[in-house]
Amino acid sequence: MNNHIDRISTGIPGLDTRLDGGYPQGESFLVTGTQGTGKTIFGLHFLEKACSNNKRCVLIATEEMPYNLVKQANMFGFDLMGHIESGLLQINRVYEQRTNYVRNKTGKMYDPTKREIGLMDLLDYIPASTDVAIIDNIGVFTLEMTPRELRDKLDTMIQILAERNCTALFIMDDATHEITHNIADYSVCGSINLMMKDNPENLQIERFIKIIKMRRTCIPMKLMKFNITPKGINLENPLQPLYCPNVYNL
Ligand SMILES: Nc1ncnc2c1ncn2[C@@H]1O[C@H](COP(=O)(O)OP(=O)(O)OP(=O)(O)O)[C@@H](O)[C@H]1O
Ligand SMILES: [Mg+2]
Repeated sequence: MNNHIDRISTGIPGLDTRLDGGYPQGESFLVTGTQGTGKTIFGLHFLEKACSNNKRCVLIATEEMPYNLVKQANMFGFDLMGHIESGLLQINRVYEQRTNYVRNKTGKMYDPTKREIGLMDLLDYIPASTDVAIIDNIGVFTLEMTPRELRDKLDTMIQILAERNCTALFIMDDATHEITHNIADYSVCGSINLMMKDNPENLQIERFIKIIKMRRTCIPMKLMKFNITPKGINLENPLQPLYCPNVYNL
């Protein structure tokens, strides 16, 4: 039996070599973390790399204006505007739709025909031919969901995306992840947690990536320290692969 797995780059220098070459292609992944841990920037790396490799990409921005994401990406030299202009990238304005709905509901402009957008509606923003989809952040839709409801909806979305061979990165804030008992971790092929920790010895706040799981992949059993630099996420010791010693000798 051929055990080859097609992989797609995470876009983060040094991370692919620690994940047997990247994410298993055509699957869905979760990135979680508390506020400001770098979730959006992590997603922008994936997006930039995928667009540069001529993949058709969609970014669904549920909590930030698209122009701010373009600006953030520009700071690291990622030309999202260029990818939009070349037709490879679509950024959807779900954030504005959410807030417009609330404005309508609470103001004089109430329009009863306007329906509140839900998690599964996001599928409508991902054309069937999409290679890579990034949703930042699904937490805004899952705050009041029961873990059962979230599991069912996420499993269904993931199944539909897999049928389309779309690789998807779901970003979710730790607050809603915890409220839903981390249930989303079980639905996805891989889960990555970003964290910040205080180092009382040097009074620094340090950033870490923790690979919670990655199916069919040997994962580093170590926190990976990183910084956010003018080039984006920069792993410490990027050239040091952390392969499981036994996995190839079975
Ligand atoms: N150009 C830059 N150079 C260095 N650090 C930066 C730069 N731009 C952003 N950062 C750092 O990245 C951090 C946040 O990154 P990001 O927006 O990806 O976090 P997040 O986890 O998505 O946050 P949120 O919970 O608000 O969505 C900022 O707080 C800032 O410290
Ligand atoms: Mg963010």
